[in-house]
Amino acid sequence: MPVTAVVGAQWGDEGKGHVVDFMASQAHMVIRFQGGDNAGHTVVNNHGKFALHLFPCGIFYPHVHNVLGTGMAINPQSFLEEMTMLNDAGLETPSSRLHISERAQVVMPYHVLIDGLEEEARGKHAQGTTKRGIGPCYTDKAARVGLRMGDLTDAGHLREYLRHVMDVKNRLLTRVYDHDPLCYDDVLEQALAWGKQLAPYIKNTHPLVQQALREDKTILLEGQLGALRDVNWGIYPYVTSSSPIAGGAATGAGVPPHRINNIIGVVKAYTTAVGEGPVPTELDGEMERTLREVGEEYGATTGRPRRCGWFDAVAVRYAAELCGFSSIAVTKIDVLDQLPTLKLCVAYDVDGTRYETVPDTRLMARAQPVYEEFPGWQASTTEARAWHDLPPNAQAYLERISELTGGLPISMVGVGPHRNDTLVVDGQHYEVA
Ligand code: IMP
Repeated sequence: MPVTAVVGAQWGDEGKGHVVDFMASQAHMVIRFQGGDNAGHTVVNNHGKFALHLFPCGIFYPHVHNVLGTGMAINPQSFLEEMTMLNDAGLETPSSRLHISERAQVVMPYHVLIDGLEEEARGKHAQGTTKRGIGPCYTDKAARVGLRMGDLTDAGHLREYLRHVMDVKNRLLTRVYDHDPLCYDDVLEQALAWGKQLAPYIKNTHPLVQQALREDKTILLEGQLGALRDVNWGIYPYVTSSSPIAGGAATGAGVPPHRINNIIGVVKAYTTAVGEGPVPTELDGEMERTLREVGEEYGATTGRPRRCGWFDAVAVRYAAELCGFSSIAVTKIDVLDQLPTLKLCVAYDVDGTRYETVPDTRLMARAQPVYEEFPGWQASTTEARAWHDLPPNAQAYLERISELTGGLPISMVGVGPHRNDTLVVDGQHYEVA
């Protein structure tokens, strides 16, 4: 199974970090293919508990090459802080196995500033962004005025190009947002300093990835966020500005689509979302509080409480259709352990019409979930390490999820936060460090 994409099938925060950290023991390379430090991949392993924002989740294994791919938007300051955090925890991050694509976009200070100003200006149309500058950075990428990581290492080019870009940014800041301009010299000095510090890591990653492909090495493509936040297919405009679906893995990582021969859709056993936009199964009151508290559902990047709801099989089936999942990995089943009954959303009702796929956002905003009810299992699943260890009602719940999402096999089940709290269903053996 040389190239596996691990992608989110819901609104983000599905537990991709857990799955990649678990699978990376067998990998040669892990490539993050999109997004930036808006991500918060929570990983709990023998090194401790970490919220990774930019680093691929293979960083915990000394044999794994970790690539920050071309499709990413990288804030160099966050990268340096994350590296310090990892080094302080005793992990090594040598440039021999940590690679930043010179073609990845740089999140600059003006992107972060403009993200906040844009959100404020949107008023009631606010999108609930993470304010990490992700939207403005990808906007510049598409408008072809972005800075790329390689530019930071070329002082002559940077001096000249940054002046051109910042002239326009400062006009935007002062004339549209009535904000003070940013000082070109300060930003340049900062960017040059980043270039110096990051130079050993910034490289042409294309030959590295191609060599790994030629040698049939095991490669994991790690996504951020989920299909419902995809810029093309998600609940636009409440989406991120990149493509978290499997197609985005090919472009962002620079891997030909036909070389991706395994696509794991990661789903949480219920639904969560941070930020705005329709989430048809969102709960309120006691049940939402229970899911949030038991599941510790607070944004790993922003700390915002996550919106919680029942599992939405319509959304996951839609993600499966878009991504072509080979299997799904269901995380956090243990969070449901004590519930007397559970609900699964099998369709939407929009103004009296039944929908079995995700409609466009205008309609999605009015979608009422159609539920099936399930008896809970009210027993702990955290010790389960094989399918037959799961209580029968938990098996039935998972089997129904599999059925409703197009008969996809369930390859893994997460039964707790730790790397070891993972049940492999299809008999594959992963060495757990
Ligand atoms: P942005 O990516 O910061 O521009 O935010 C766009 C939307 O995606 C907002 O609704 C965010 O709350 C959401 N979002 C961004 N990153 C994450 C994440 O890592 N997990 C969950 N939601 C996210």
